Amino acid sequence: MLGSPDVEAVLAWSAGRRDDLPWRQTRDPWGVLVSELMLQQTQVSRVIPRWHQFLARFPSAAACAKAPLGDVVTEWAGLGYNRRAVNLHRAAVAVVEHHGGVVPNELTELLALPGIGPYTARAVLAFAFEHDVAVVDTNVGRILARQRGERLSVKDAQKFADDIVPIGMGWSWNQGLLDVGALICTKRSPRCGECPTSSSCRWFQAGTVAPDPAIGSAAVSKGQSKFEGSFREGRARLLDVLRTGVEVSPEHFRAACGWMNRDEGEADAKRAAESLVRDGLAIKRRDGALSLP
Ligand code: ADE
Repeated sequence: MLGSPDVEAVLAWSAGRRDDLPWRQTRDPWGVLVSELMLQQTQVSRVIPRWHQFLARFPSAAACAKAPLGDVVTEWAGLGYNRRAVNLHRAAVAVVEHHGGVVPNELTELLALPGIGPYTARAVLAFAFEHDVAVVDTNVGRILARQRGERLSVKDAQKFADDIVPIGMGWSWNQGLLDVGALICTKRSPRCGECPTSSSCRWFQAGTVAPDPAIGSAAVSKGQSKFEGSFREGRARLLDVLRTGVEVSPEHFRAACGWMNRDEGEADAKRAAESLVRDGLAIKRRDGALSLP
């Protein structure tokens, strides 16, 4: 049907594809949760070894919860968006405190965990518990908007996605759509010739003319601003110094940020230090020095 992806075509296209991704070979909700948080910011090939390494160190929510937050932040090094390490640790603590260490299988309970949003909560339900819920990330949001040929609000995208999950096939369907979104229905130059959803795609059938309905759709992110040379880059460098286990005193913030030649380097470094503390990634010592929590 025009405007709604062909279930059989998507399932046939995705059968056997990327089955070897390690988080597709487990139904352990902790492992799935870790994978989904990592995959939100980092490409698949880089996540694979880090996922194994993280789970070897923190094989369960309980193991993560009892480790100092600094250890989790250290294990997260290089994955980016370090606040997710803080969120993951907080979620692990909540799972232990409120659910006896077992990651819950209810949407409301998952959403109540710190840092777990609608995407992650549904990904855990679909990929660990095989529930028929729709997992809508930025890639899936793009497919849906193009299928419908119109911009979608977050609510409309989720509703549409929920309505089309084939009964009993939630796991395969969602993995398939994520792959179509990541590999075929890409933001720029989509491979419509190879796409299992092109026959029903209103945007494709209308000739993929501008404007692309995915642009400005609420579920579709605008992407991150430039990292290099940015405030975030210096802040990340300061955190990397803390990850080595040292304390950094205020007179060294600027150098740790790599901003000796930056205008306003001193003031920006102070701001970077404050924002690490605010986000829970560092703690302030009595003398104003920072360390990992
Ligand atoms: N991106 C987000 N979730 C994913 C998954 N389960 N497999 C591959 N890429 C993903």
